Amino acid sequence: MEFERSDLDKQLENFDCPVWSEDYATGFKAIDDDHKDLFKEIGILKNLIDQHDSTDHIEQVISSLENYTVEHFSREEAFMIGAGYPETIDHMKKHRALTHKIDCLRILYHESPEQIDTYKLLKFLSQWLVNHIVKDDMNYIPYLKGEQDDADHDIADSLQEISVSLPRDKSDLIKKFIHIATSDHPAAKKLTSAIELFEIKLDERELEAARKDFCK
Ligand SMILES: [Fe+2]
Repeated sequence: MEFERSDLDKQLENFDCPVWSEDYATGFKAIDDDHKDLFKEIGILKNLIDQHDSTDHIEQVISSLENYTVEHFSREEAFMIGAGYPETIDHMKKHRALTHKIDCLRILYHESPEQIDTYKLLKFLSQWLVNHIVKDDMNYIPYLKGEQDDADHDIADSLQEISVSLPRDKSDLIKKFIHIATSDHPAAKKLTSAIELFEIKLDERELEAARKDFCK
């Protein structure tokens, strides 16, 4: 245990917690304010780790991340769709992947809070945030500014928002299902085929029932 703590301290000594700077500015206040909040959240996590106080507060960090991903991602996605950013769907997949990762974090935390390596979490979030802003978010900014002439204004037609009420005990399963089905994961194809097969079977059952009702 002694070794683990000093090992963590050593890793943290060499860890540069990212801080928001003008390099990350997109020029859009709503987006920049959201990004600044996540930098702040990462800073809070780093402080908690420095005070060896992180395990008890990890739930708070997870809740903030969940709120962040819901609010910020939907704001960003609305901007991208409105601007006709052609890579909107790929960008959304990256958002869903992080959302799913945070869901997994909550599951792991509830399994056993002690198993969460806060340093790894800090490192993962820092790298994700910086890479995502610099590589992914900056790509759609010219579309928001109207500087690109290949905007796809039909992008909204390829997306459909659905709102459904689910039994509580099935919601995690449905989230996983949506995550796989909307990703590039090889399982997505199998899942799609299975659903199509299921639809055919359902149709056959319905047809069979109709046959009984209406046929000799
Ligand atoms: Fe993004």
